[in-house]
Amino acid sequence: MGVRDIFQIMQARRSCRQFKPDPRPEFEMVMVRLAGETAPYASGGPRREVIGPIPGKTIASACYDQRCVHQAPCAWIMCGKDRHTMLRSGHAKYIFDCAATCMLMDLMAVSLGMGTCWIGHFDPDMVRKACSIDDDLVPTIILLAGVRNDG
Ligand SMILES: Cc1cc2nc3c(=O)[nH]c(=O)nc-3n(C[C@H](O)[C@H](O)[C@H](O)COP(=O)(O)O)c2cc1C
Repeated sequence: MGVRDIFQIMQARRSCRQFKPDPRPEFEMVMVRLAGETAPYASGGPRREVIGPIPGKTIASACYDQRCVHQAPCAWIMCGKDRHTMLRSGHAKYIFDCAATCMLMDLMAVSLGMGTCWIGHFDPDMVRKACSIDDDLVPTIILLAGVRNDG
C-alpha cells in the first residue's frame, strides 16, 4: 500500500449521518477491533477499553437521540481508564489513548467500505448504564459505522 491509498482512505472518511440497517460481517468487526489495538498509547500501558460493537439504538437516547446513532448498525465506545493519570502537560492520558484508538478503527472501517461518524455529544452516565460499563471506565468517544445511506 502506498501514500496514495492511505490518503484515499483519509479523504473517503467524511462523517456519515445516514446508515442502512444492514449488519456487517464478523470479519469486518474483527478487523476494526484489531486496528484499534495498534493505536499508540501514553507511557504506562494503554488506558483504554473498547466496548462493542453494539447496535447504535442501544445508546441512542444517551446520545440525545441523534438520528445517526439510532440508525447505525455498529457502535463502539472508547472508554478511558485511570482518569487521574496525567501527562506532564497536564492533560489526561486516557483522552489521547481513546482518540488514537478511535481514529485507527475509523480508518479501518472506511477502508472496508463503511461510513463512520464520531459521537462526542452524549451523557456518559447514561451510556455507562445502557451498556453496563464499570464505574472506573470513562466513556470518552463513540464510533458509529455501517453502510452509508447518504448517496
Ligand atoms: C470529538 C468529536 C466529537 C464529535 N461528536 C459528534 C456528534 O456528537 N455528532 C455528530 O453528528 N458528529 C460528531 N462529530 C463529527 C464532526 O462533526 C465532524 O467530524 C466534523 O464536522 C468534520 O466533518 P467530517 O468528519 O465530515 O470531515 C464529532 C467529531 C469529533 C472529532
